[in-house]
Amino acid sequence: MSEIKKAVIPVAGFGTRMLPITKAQPKEMVTVVDKPVVQYVVEYLVDCNVRDILFITGKGKQAIENHFDKNLELEYLLKKSGKEELLKKIMYINELANIFYVRQKEPKGLGDAILHGENFVGNEYFITMVGDTIYSKNIIEDMLYLHKKYNCSIIALERVNKKDVHKYGVVEIKEYNGVYEIVDMVEKPKPEEAPSNLIITGAYILSPKIFDYLKKTKPGRGGEIQLTDAIKDMLSEEKVIGFEINCKRYDIGDILSWLKANVELSAERFPEFREFLKEFAKNL
Ligand code: UTP
Repeated sequence: MSEIKKAVIPVAGFGTRMLPITKAQPKEMVTVVDKPVVQYVVEYLVDCNVRDILFITGKGKQAIENHFDKNLELEYLLKKSGKEELLKKIMYINELANIFYVRQKEPKGLGDAILHGENFVGNEYFITMVGDTIYSKNIIEDMLYLHKKYNCSIIALERVNKKDVHKYGVVEIKEYNGVYEIVDMVEKPKPEEAPSNLIITGAYILSPKIFDYLKKTKPGRGGEIQLTDAIKDMLSEEKVIGFEINCKRYDIGDILSWLKANVELSAERFPEFREFLKEFAKNL
């Protein structure tokens, strides 16, 4: 089994839940503490040695390309004014990974976005992480471990309150050697119809077989081509294992979750802010 070297990050959605922030700015460029959310996602991958990264981008998303590109004028200016630390910080981003781009002409759904990655991925397992979700730790390492062990697709899951399942893809599982084998999945079910309270979080290791299924997937919920529908169909042919994350997840497409990420991650990444934040929260 070859090691996973490629990842696909879809970033072409309109981010309507974050309007008006996202009217002229990609949701994936929204800042969490001191860097855009999508930089965290790329760093998770690079930390696990996955450096060939394809962005599925779209209209109005050029800020993402600029962020990962060189900015020669800025570099020149920082060098000239002796701001070596800042220079290092921005040059580090240019050199993080081998980044490729393909445009999804219309946001027809996450499944359609991933299908745009077929030529890039070829016939290998690959990672998909949505460009607007981050975690309190890097979950990719655990997912790669499980993939190595079971040689199949892996989906990161999170347990939520049953009343919230209608916002997510939800899985039906059976226990298998201490992990969950996925037997069915449903997109945004009513709580009373949900097969569990384990939701799909937006991080996947996928078999290249998924592309055959995506090509056959008809528009589902919301008129979009749903990745969940394609994975569900693939279950008839291939095993898919669910992995329950043991950390916090932040959906930066949701205002409250974004605010939490800023507070909690700043307390973690900048311990000198922690006492101030505690006091500040008490006095709100
Ligand atoms: P979301 O459903 O959270 O993104 O998709 P959205 O559609 O932009 O958000 P809302 O619901 O309108 O607020 C998760 C990820 O998949 C990408 C998004 O950019 C986001 O990073 N995506 C979604 C695509 O690339 N293409 C699509 O057609 C849909």
